Amino acid sequence: MDAFRIQGGRPLRGEISVSGSKNASLPIMVAALLAEGESVLFGAPDLVDVRTLGQLLAHMGAGVRREGRETKIDATRIDKHEAPYDLVRTMRASFLVIGPLLARFGRARVSLPGGCAIGARPVDQHLKALEALGATLHISHGYVEAETKGLCGAEITFDFPTVGGTENLMIAASLAKGQTVLNNAACEPEIVDLALALGEMGVRIEGAGTERLVVHGTDKVRPYRHQVVCDRIEFGTFLVAGALAGEPLTILGGVADHQAALVDKLKKSGADIAIDGPRATVTRAGAIRPVDLRTAPYPGFPTDMQAQLMALMTVADGVSVITETIFENRFMHVPELNRLGADIRVDGGKAVVHGVKTLSGSTVMATDLRASAGLVLAGLVAEGETVVRRIYHLDRGYEHLADKLIAVGANIQRFRE
Ligand code: UD1
Repeated sequence: MDAFRIQGGRPLRGEISVSGSKNASLPIMVAALLAEGESVLFGAPDLVDVRTLGQLLAHMGAGVRREGRETKIDATRIDKHEAPYDLVRTMRASFLVIGPLLARFGRARVSLPGGCAIGARPVDQHLKALEALGATLHISHGYVEAETKGLCGAEITFDFPTVGGTENLMIAASLAKGQTVLNNAACEPEIVDLALALGEMGVRIEGAGTERLVVHGTDKVRPYRHQVVCDRIEFGTFLVAGALAGEPLTILGGVADHQAALVDKLKKSGADIAIDGPRATVTRAGAIRPVDLRTAPYPGFPTDMQAQLMALMTVADGVSVITETIFENRFMHVPELNRLGADIRVDGGKAVVHGVKTLSGSTVMATDLRASAGLVLAGLVAEGETVVRRIYHLDRGYEHLADKLIAVGANIQRFRE
């Protein structure tokens, strides 16, 4: 397994750019299954998760090619309506294929995703909503077996704004008869981007980015040509890197509005952030001030930024309280940050972070994607050498992270253990 060796304490200076969004690319790639012909997605990051989804689509019979920054998916011939356990287990977003398979072919057999390191993550909201559209579901041997004589639009109210559930239903409802209303829908920028791609396929969607989405189903859709939105979580991770060590760090290609909750917290922590369209320049003059935060669905503070902001708070001048409300087990980075000299105590869904003067380099273990990013950020400011093990988690979600950070002054070596 690969690891990073980081020599801490180097300032980050210069320009770093943001890649295309992983979390938008995945559902948009899945949406290609709705249409005969070749869809083209521009700017999908070259990442393990994107490749895994490509493998799943190819397993079902789609032609999947990557040419430079273009990902081409030809879903004309789909001969397997199945997503096997091995592909869904490693990446929960694979479960999304159930929607388009049902909508276009009337049947699907998709493995339940199972748990993951950060929580149980069930798919009950997806299933309840697909049933409301007229799917018959049967769970057996760990698989959801679904069929329908034709999906019909319905009014659905999610129990809470699930990102994947909203995406699954938007895709499925695109080929349903009549209109589907999704209440309490997720409002994330990735949902808006998926709606744009579906719009390019000929599906009329109203209200994307609000809590009430209306999808006007249609008989037939065409393939899309779509430029994916930039990755707001990668953008946010670089903003935190700038707040920790920017002298100054300019981030290119992010959308500041997509990280408004984070930008607000970073400014309160003492970072100086100047936004000029797609350029965000971050620096910090004085001490890091503690800020409390509570994760929430968009536009609240993203759970995917919690570990990174916690890394910043470990060296704040005071005590901060971080409350996680989206996932029940998303503090696995805490013991690892404590190994670097942080002083964090977890009490249920709350982490109380007592800022320390300095972190000291050590060996730590990455446990999930965003936790790993938090550890890398901590390593960038820890005294001496930090080794972050199991960085395959990072490879799932950050395109060329080490190279990008090295180009702005970080000292990171990737090596095989
Ligand atoms: C997506 C993101 C992930 C992010 C999360 C929350 C992708 C590929 N992943 O994940 O990075 O952390 O949004 O912003 O876009 N839940 C249920 N039943 C369901 C669906 C979800 O109980 O049917 C629970 C989950 O266990 C979790 C919470 O709801 O605790 C949020 O899940 P959801 O919003 O669906 O997140 P994902 O789409 O899995």
